[in-house]
Amino acid sequence: MSDGESRVVSRTSAIADTKPRTADGKVLWHFTMSLDGFVAGPNHAMDWMTGVGRPGLIEEYVETTGAVLGGRDGFDAFPEPSGTYGGWQGPVFILTHHPEDAPPTDGTTFLNCDVAEAVRIGLDAAGGKNLEILSADIGRQLLERGLIDEIDLHIAPVLLGDGIRLFDNAGGAPVELVLLNDHGEATILNVRYRPATAR
Ligand SMILES: NC(=O)c1ccc[n+]([C@@H]2O[C@H](COP(=O)([O-])OP(=O)(O)OC[C@H]3O[C@@H](n4cnc5c(N)ncnc54)[C@H](OP(=O)(O)O)[C@@H]3O)[C@@H](O)[C@H]2O)c1
Repeated sequence: MSDGESRVVSRTSAIADTKPRTADGKVLWHFTMSLDGFVAGPNHAMDWMTGVGRPGLIEEYVETTGAVLGGRDGFDAFPEPSGTYGGWQGPVFILTHHPEDAPPTDGTTFLNCDVAEAVRIGLDAAGGKNLEILSADIGRQLLERGLIDEIDLHIAPVLLGDGIRLFDNAGGAPVELVLLNDHGEATILNVRYRPATAR
């Protein structure tokens, strides 16, 4: 294989991003996101996520996730923790200012503390695996505090136009990111779509 050919192959596999996620005690802000930046539709709608994701993706996260940290709104919308990655079982922590009215839920601990303390508790419980931040609100707070190791996104081929944004920070400064997938020198991802209804 020539140098040119090997570069093409490595870029193609990088774009597919099939490199398995590893369990190494990271704080991951992890979401499936619509192309226009929403992680939930209006009223926490999640039906648009059905059927997206490459084969083996869920199993990968079941294997590498040690604990989950979420917020009260997401919990109230989906209080059943087994909804996280199909069969994943493990400690779930929910930040709320009013834990006293949270329904007792197996495997779920309600915290009312500083976000940094919540991360410390979550990482401790994760036992060396990753702590997943399944909250846009908490992710933004942690990003501000420098406590996010990676932003881990699966971008779904859909435009929602309304709902809960990954990063809602009106008036805030832009946050520059470094692409971790091995895309060579590329700094912009180039994607092409057509509306599914169009020919
Ligand atoms: N697309 C995906 O892959 C995916 C995966 C999982 C979940 N989701 C969805 O993502 C959405 C996340 O919603 P969201 O981020 O807007 O809300 P959220 O984080 O679920 O809930 C926000 C609430 O959590 C509490 N909270 C946040 N920070 C806190 C702190 N520092 N201390 C104490 N309490 C705190 C506050 O509630 P109180 O003040 O009322 O206590 C706050 O209003 C949900 O709809 C969820 O279903 C999407």
